This record gives sequence, C-alpha cells and structure tokens, in this order.
Amino acid sequence: MCGIIGFTGSQNAAPILLDGLSRMEYRGYDSAGIAVLNRGAIEVEKAQGRLTNLLEKTDNGKRPQGFAGIGHTRWATHGAPNDINSHPHVSGDGRFAIVHNGIIENYAAIKEELTAKGHVFVSETDTEVAAHLIEECYTGDFKAAVMKAVSRLEGAYAFGIICSDFPGTVFAVRQAAPLIVGLGFGENYFASDVTALVSYTKNVIYLDDGEFAEVRTDGVTIYDSIGRPVEKPVSKIAWSIEAAEKGGYEHFMLKEIVEQPAAVKEAIAPRIKGGEIVLDDFDLTEEKLRNINKIVITACGSAYHAGCCGRYAIEKLTRIPVEVKLASEFRYEDPIVDEHTLMIIVSQSGETADTKAALEEGKRLGAEILAIVNVVGSSIARLADHVLYEWAGPEIAVATTKGFTTQLVLLYLFALYAAKKLDRVDDFEYARLLGEICSLPKRIQNAIDLNMVSIPRLAEKYHDRGSMFFIGRNTDYAVALEGSLKMKEISYIHAEAYAAGELKHGTIALIEEGTPVVAVCCNEDLLEKTASNILEVKARGAEVLALSFRENRDIIAHADDVMFVPKTETFFSEAVAVIPLQLLAYYVAKANGCDIDKPRNLAKSVTVE
Ligand code: F6R
Repeated sequence: MCGIIGFTGSQNAAPILLDGLSRMEYRGYDSAGIAVLNRGAIEVEKAQGRLTNLLEKTDNGKRPQGFAGIGHTRWATHGAPNDINSHPHVSGDGRFAIVHNGIIENYAAIKEELTAKGHVFVSETDTEVAAHLIEECYTGDFKAAVMKAVSRLEGAYAFGIICSDFPGTVFAVRQAAPLIVGLGFGENYFASDVTALVSYTKNVIYLDDGEFAEVRTDGVTIYDSIGRPVEKPVSKIAWSIEAAEKGGYEHFMLKEIVEQPAAVKEAIAPRIKGGEIVLDDFDLTEEKLRNINKIVITACGSAYHAGCCGRYAIEKLTRIPVEVKLASEFRYEDPIVDEHTLMIIVSQSGETADTKAALEEGKRLGAEILAIVNVVGSSIARLADHVLYEWAGPEIAVATTKGFTTQLVLLYLFALYAAKKLDRVDDFEYARLLGEICSLPKRIQNAIDLNMVSIPRLAEKYHDRGSMFFIGRNTDYAVALEGSLKMKEISYIHAEAYAAGELKHGTIALIEEGTPVVAVCCNEDLLEKTASNILEVKARGAEVLALSFRENRDIIAHADDVMFVPKTETFFSEAVAVIPLQLLAYYVAKANGCDIDKPRNLAKSVTVE
C-alpha cells in the first residue's frame, strides 16, 4: 500500500526521496510524488503510473532542488489514480505539503467545515483535507499546528509534513500505520518501511501509535500524543541492502523462492540448542500452556493458508483443538475466545489491518496472543504478548514465498515445543520429529533442484488454460489452497482449490476435456483416497498434474505429468510440497508475460480494511 518517506540534510533531497520510493515500489502503488523545500517555497512534482514517469518529470531527481522533502507512492483509495489526487497535497496558502498512508475516516465532515470557512479543495482525497486543517490550525508554531490538526482526525494514518517557514524540518506522525525514523550523520529520515532507509542508515526508531517525530538536520525529537518529548530506543536493522536487491535474478519472486532453504534454516537453527527447542523470544510457560483449551490461528491470504497447514501439526501433536479464522471475518463473528484461548496471529508484514484488528479483538476478549511475524518492530509484533520472528529477511515480491514457508516452520516448531511441555510426546518421538524439522531446509533445497528444469516446460504446456483446479486431502488440501492462490495472483488464471473428496458434491461439473487438475499427493496416509479422486477427474477428461514423491508409483501411473518432491513426514510436508507450486505459478506467469513481482491490483502490505 502507500509508502511515505521524508528527508532532511545537507544534500539534495529529491534523489534520496526517489531512491527510497523505488525501494518501496513493491508495496503496490499507482502514482507517486515528491515535495521539496526550495529557498522558502515548496515545489511539488507528481506523476500517475510507475515511478519512471516521476523520474522523467524530475530529470532523474535533478529537480526540484532543496535539502528537505517528502515523497509518496499512492495506492488509490479516495479518488482515481491521477496526477491531481496523487500526493503530496498542499494547503491552500502553499505553506504546508503533506504525504499520507492510511485513511482519514472523518474527512468529509472536516472538508465541509473548512469549505464553509473558504478553503478550496482541488482533489478528491482525504489527505488534502489534512493539509488544509493544518493550515487552519497554524499560528507560527509548526509542531503545535500539526498536533492540533491531528487531534481532530479519526482513522489510520502515517503523515509526513513540511512547512515552508521551517526549512530544515520534516514532521512525521503515526497513528495505526507503519512509520520508522532513520538516524544518519548530519541528515535524518523517516519512511513507512526500513527497505527505503537501509542504504542510508541501519539505526532506526520505531514510532508507536500517537507519536510525532520532529526530524531535523541536527537530530530527531519524538513526542507523545500530548506533545511531551519521549526517549525511544534505537534499533539496528539486521540485514544489508543486498538482501533487498535482485542479485542477478530476473524477479524478486524467483530469488525469494530460491532463498527458502536458507531462510527456513535461519528460522529453525538458532532455536535448537542441545537437542531441544528453545524459544527465547517467548515465555509461554508450561503453566500457561496447560491453561489453554483452544488455539485460534488468525491471518489473511497466504498467512491464513500457513495457519490451515500448521493446524494439522498442532492438533496432532498437542491434541489442543485449533480453529483457523480469516482475520477479515474474525471480529464480526462475535468470536468465542477467552482467557483460555491462545491466539496465533500470523503476518509476514506485521501491518495487515484486518489481522491487527483481529489481534486487538482477541486481546480485548482476554486471549494470550502469540504473533508469528517477519518484519521486526512491526505493529503486530509490538501488540502481541509473545513474538516468534520469521527471520526471513526482506520479502519484496508481492506474492509471498519465503514468508510463507518460514511461517510454516515456526508453526511446526511451536507444535512440537508445546507437545513436549504438555507431555504429549515421548523423548524418542520428540527427537525424531525435531530431526524431521531440522531436515526441512535440505528437503526444500531438494524440491527446488528437482523442479527447476522441469517446471518451465510444464508451464509452457499449461499456461494458456483459462482455469485450473488444485486438489488434495488434509495437509495436501491446505497446500493446494496456497498453490491456487499463487497461481491466480501472479498469472491471473482462475484457480480453485478443493478438498479432493468434495469435488463430487458439485464442482466436478466444471471438469471437462483438458481441464488441468493439480493433484497434491504428499500425505502418505491418504494416497489411495486421492488416487481415486484423480481417476474421477480423469474419467471426465481432466489433465492431471500430480505432485508427489518418486516412491508413489500408483499416482505417477495415473497422472499426465508429475512434479516430484522428497518424501517428508506428513505433518511437516506442506513446507516442501509448496515449493513446486510456487515455481509452477512463477513460470506460468512468466509464460503469460505477467508483471510477476507487482501483480495488478495488489499491494504487499494491506494496511486498509
Ligand atoms: C499472497 C500474499 C498475501 C498475504 C496477505 C497477508 O501471496 O502475499 O495473501 O499473505 O496479504 O499478509 P501478511 O502476511 O503481511 O499479513
């Protein structure tokens, strides 16, 4: 979704703003703009479409000149994505420029009030209202005007603001939208995302909701919601800029698929000490675990699918019932959650608005909250009682891959850890299963190696089909859900996942000559059952692309094509089985000439409801 950035220092701001915006492109956007303070006046440039349009307009950042400024990539909410609605927006008197990520819910009432006072609006956006409101509140004190205006706003927002009367200062405000302040030498920054700042500084301050940052050339002051200065810890970004670059790969998605063995290892290895799972990062004691009679996993999209997969391992090993809920539905369901519930909140970005709202609802109802999150310092990480970080490094492609597999392995680790604490697994089985989890990086590598050459050929065969089905049972069905989402979001092919046994209750009517059916057959206990479902669809003309291990002769004999993975313990098999499905979606999208890293209509971090 929208990305904002701000800079003040002694070098030209525009190139830094544009570079930061380019590093946030992956968040999703449809227009971009910058505003720079130039000798006491604000100059704005904005352009609809890709950042290259803005680069052209600004002569690659040579214009506008000036040492402080703000920038924005917009994912349209209020008003069409055009030059007028693009940010930055400027107050009527030209004194303030503002960029905004989020939604101001009460903007219409404020707009009416300001219109009655003579303010004239040029755009359809909620953001322009904030620019005029700051102007209305201004009596010569920048900070006071910002604070007064913000106290009137309802909704979720992160703002960056400049004022022509304060040439070396940029203001940032955070309320329920991500915002990070970067500390440099003689220059300082803020941005929605650390990827925008990491080539300039590794020292950052994570703002909390309601906080303001006065970012000056000579330092930064953070204020609480009533204007008192607050001391904030400075955190170090743990990864380098190379991690956020393509490193020779054609797309970030392919790079991130290939990075999975290392990412999964990084998520597992530091948490195994002396043959035991040690989760230093949380204190879910045995007593707390014994108090839990239900686990609710809540998430959106692929993170929800990670929950659907992880549920099997958690239930099997701990015998605690697990419900997996879509975060966007959760809080409207009058959920049955109390102090005996453990809620596991799964989110790569840690900023997904629906997931965060589900967390808040769970907290309100008294649940213990464990978050599985990739982005360090993100809102969800900070709101949860316990956090397991994925340590997957930056994920830039919109379609998640390593974010998903690292979520999965943390769910597996949690399952085994809890089973041990609850005495639901004996020492021998514990050691065996831990060995299985530790072998996942190797198996994932094996799954990549087995498919890297063959899947591009399969993609050539299947890329022009209008519709595909993905089937499987239990763990295989959970993987099928993720495989079908990957296929539709990046290749734009209609793809449905069905529990294999459910097809004959209606959906099988859609199978006709040549319909591709991807059959996931990695759950050893259910191979024969899925084999019958393969025969059912084949009898109706389907072309079956099976996903299984070499030992599974039966399914290989029935299928038209096969993608192989190494045989893996059933409850951890999803992390391996998903690999060929990611590769299949990638190469089908490539064969169809799709914009793989930035699929249409999608944003990386969905910060609106
Ligand atoms: C799909 C995808 C999305 C995300 C979803 C949740 O490839 O990436 O479905 O999984 O938007 O995002 P996070 O995990 O950031 O909460």
